[in-house]
Amino acid sequence: MTNRPLPTTGATTGLLEAISFFRNPDFALERFQSYGDVFETRLLGQEMVFIRGDEAIGNLLNQSDSVEGWWPESVRQLLGMKSLANRNGPDHKARRRVVGQLFSRAALREYTPAIITMVNDLVDELNNSQQPIALAHRMRSFAFAVIAKTVLGLDDHNREVLFKDFEIWTQALFSLPIAIPGTAFAKALAARKRLLLHLRHRLSEIGPVAGHNTTQVCGLSRLCGGLDEHRQPLEDDDLAEQLLLLLFAGYETTASSLSCLMRALLLEPEVSDWLKPEIDSLPWPPAESDLMAFETERSPRLNAVITEVMRLTPPVGGFFRRTRHAITLAGVDIPAGRVIQVALAASNRHGPGDDLGCFRPQRHLDKATPQQILRPFGGGERVCLGQALAELEIRLMGVGLLKQLRLRLVPDQDLSLRMVPSPVPRSGLLVVAD
Ligand code: HEM
Repeated sequence: MTNRPLPTTGATTGLLEAISFFRNPDFALERFQSYGDVFETRLLGQEMVFIRGDEAIGNLLNQSDSVEGWWPESVRQLLGMKSLANRNGPDHKARRRVVGQLFSRAALREYTPAIITMVNDLVDELNNSQQPIALAHRMRSFAFAVIAKTVLGLDDHNREVLFKDFEIWTQALFSLPIAIPGTAFAKALAARKRLLLHLRHRLSEIGPVAGHNTTQVCGLSRLCGGLDEHRQPLEDDDLAEQLLLLLFAGYETTASSLSCLMRALLLEPEVSDWLKPEIDSLPWPPAESDLMAFETERSPRLNAVITEVMRLTPPVGGFFRRTRHAITLAGVDIPAGRVIQVALAASNRHGPGDDLGCFRPQRHLDKATPQQILRPFGGGERVCLGQALAELEIRLMGVGLLKQLRLRLVPDQDLSLRMVPSPVPRSGLLVVAD
């Protein structure tokens, strides 16, 4: 069978396409319907190939030698060129190995008690508040605190200082990368400098000889002695950029999945009722000796609900690659040098079954129907490094809240989702505890 040429929308400047991309939640879906599972368009001057479906995505992930990582220019500059997100080949692999130590099973065990304490603090706050609480905002501070406290070992004061600069930095991530004084991008570059200074200072506090016998035990001590692609110790400047990446990659995404999980359960009481017997059967807090108590086999319903939330509202709507050589995806030829966006959100609603637009967690436990391949954490050589930590946080927060509280939505709030950078309820998800 001969391959097909790449279908294109014919956009020239890409201005209207870019406006539609940010405003229209069905941007990709509508174009997939017109052009098939692989098409090209232009977003503000940037040619971009969108792909969906198992065949095209599977083909892409199986040709890792022909593609490399890619990020929009604003993200590249704000993350920095030492960041593993902006590296490829042996440089990238070496840093993944070093940073991956922060998410080993042993590391997660160490982080778990602190995460449980943070969940219980939120439960207390919800129980004691006389006013409605915006749960989505609390999920943001929780997800940030998990990384800042367990990984970086920061105290409350330093965490707050970092958080403020981090919010300034995040706001310009997907902006025009022009650093005219006063613009969001210029402010973000200044915040980046301060953040890196803070992170380098933190690394110097931990020091090269710190280990698990010190009083400063946190994830960072696991990074000491990490080697680069030439088997030389990673410099602090390099490590600081990897830590900045972790804050970026791990915070908005996890906060979004937590908010969307709670929103879904509050909007679908029959799903909450279906889940409740399983939650009731799980211990809270999990015993010290059983810190992995909520893994998939022991909580299949919770896992199905989380999977369904990630399917319908993936925290990362799409991830990118750039072709180094010409490749073929689902029978369509893609030239070298093209940026590809894997459209996760559109892919997840496309496949066998006619109810893929509905929230129905039970589908993931139904052995009789073919299961979609879902990739909320990406795939191949760049698959999310923090997946295990994110899953742990979501399960602990899910069980901790559902087991200890009965939450109610405040009426007349806007529960629709703002989609960029990650889905979040527009009202902030106002709740009260009964
Ligand atoms: C629900 C939460 C999360 C979701 C849905 C998510 C999703 C993703 C996705 C889709 C990618 C791109 C993968 C690819 O290009 O194939 C990614 C990359 C990454 N994620 Fe996550 N992530 C989450 C949480 C976290 C956390 C908690 C951390 C760490 C604290 C983290 C660290 C990273 C890093 C470092 C990368 C870059 C990997 C590389 O380029 O090699 N993520 N994540």
